[in-house]
Amino acid sequence: MIAHSKIHARRLLSPNDKEIRTVSSLQNECFGFSWGFDALKQLVTTENVLTLLANTPHRENSVGYLMARSLHDEAEILTMGVQAPCRKMGIGTILVMECRMWAQEKRVSNILLEVEEFNYAAQRVYEKCKFDHVGRRRCYYSTYRNDMTDALILRATLTTKNGQ
Ligand SMILES: CC(C)(COP(=O)(O)OP(=O)(O)OC[C@H]1O[C@@H](n2cnc3c(N)ncnc32)[C@H](O)[C@@H]1OP(=O)(O)O)[C@@H](O)C(=O)NCCC(=O)NCCS
Repeated sequence: MIAHSKIHARRLLSPNDKEIRTVSSLQNECFGFSWGFDALKQLVTTENVLTLLANTPHRENSVGYLMARSLHDEAEILTMGVQAPCRKMGIGTILVMECRMWAQEKRVSNILLEVEEFNYAAQRVYEKCKFDHVGRRRCYYSTYRNDMTDALILRATLTTKNGQ
């Protein structure tokens, strides 16, 4: 668990229904939609899936979440968000750094993710967490005005303690 300035990102080892509802509600707040309780429940209980919730001392409920999945020696960040009033406090960075630590423990070599080309806030978080731009998927996202935008593919390369 990473704790920084009293912000905690904790791993949910076997998430209960209340915690799954929290993830669903945070995803809804951050993106305007959620994958839904049943889909999230199936995902969070899948082997090799990481679910993180972030808390601050000033708020009773969790304020941020991250989900990632590992397969062989690669991991992918599936979704991440921080409640609007709690942004720019370092919570997104803490979530991604905790995910890096989890991936390192699993001896994963790379973490990949897709981010919308104009999502500068998320790009800044990933840049701080040492992700590099390695590709682009054209017309990957559809905006609320039905425009299409690209996804940038970012990758973090991890090293194990002995440098391999
Ligand atoms: C992206 C998101 C998770 C960032 O969370 P956060 O807790 O605000 O991130 P941090 O506080 O760790 O910020 C990290 C850096 O990004 C910068 N940053 C954050 N939001 C920013 C913004 N809107 N504009 C410019 N820079 C921003 C911070 O200033 C900080 O940089 P610094 O340390 O140099 O000052 C949050 O904005 C969010 O939930 N957005 C909606 C959902 C989303 O886009 N998820 C990611 C999908 S890939």
